[in-house]
Amino acid sequence: MQFTNIAASLALVTAVLGSTIRRTIPENYEIGTMKFNGSIHGVPWYGEGTIQEIYAEFTKAHPDAAANDKREPKPVPAKRQLHGDPNKYGEQCCPIPGEQYGNADNGAITDGIAYLKEVDAYCNCGPTSCVRISCSDSAAIFLCNDTDEEIWNGCNYMATFAQDIMDDCTTISPPPLWYQSCCGQEYHTNGFHVVVRYDSC
Ligand SMILES: *[C@@H]1O[C@H](CO)[C@@H](O)[C@H](O)[C@H]1NC(C)=O
Ligand SMILES: *[C@@H]1O[C@H](CO)[C@@H](O)[C@H](O)[C@H]1NC(C)=O
Repeated sequence: MQFTNIAASLALVTAVLGSTIRRTIPENYEIGTMKFNGSIHGVPWYGEGTIQEIYAEFTKAHPDAAANDKREPKPVPAKRQLHGDPNKYGEQCCPIPGEQYGNADNGAITDGIAYLKEVDAYCNCGPTSCVRISCSDSAAIFLCNDTDEEIWNGCNYMATFAQDIMDDCTTISPPPLWYQSCCGQEYHTNGFHVVVRYDSC
């Protein structure tokens, strides 16, 4: 049971470190659960939770389809092209005034983006609320709904917001670590925004 103890200690250290960063969502927003509706590897699927949780459930139910996982090399659109999107605005890197968001590991965010691009589905949340659409290794992508108007946006479109933030808001820690992490947010004219930041899952 040595291993369990080590894992538990690590979890404790992470929890203690994490608690020094105030984890909030914007004032007046509720925290909700993402609703996912569409298909994964061509199989219709509905789920609630982060993309990782939904994908894990899908894998249990459809191990054969999940064997088609080709998450890796879908091309990420070039940065200039993403920012040519007339509906995106208000990109801000941390520190964001009034919020105390911490940085998220770039590797884990890249992994979350890959999941979101792999599916053909809508990722939605309720009115005036934020949901974690992706969370792994305490690196979170949040979708916050700023209105109660009906919008259905593809999970892969949400992923492009996280990519913008990673492209523009990455900081690299001094050598010898060269640790890359990012934190920021970006808005859409239809009344939602995406936040990338540290949060325990
Ligand atoms: C998911 O989308 C399908 C097709 O648009 C729809 O028929 C179904 O009711 C939706 N399921 C849920 C739970 O929202
Ligand atoms: C925001 O909430 C409304 C009302 O529930 C919903 O129709 C809409 O699709 C949501 N938008 C997003 C981006 O989740």
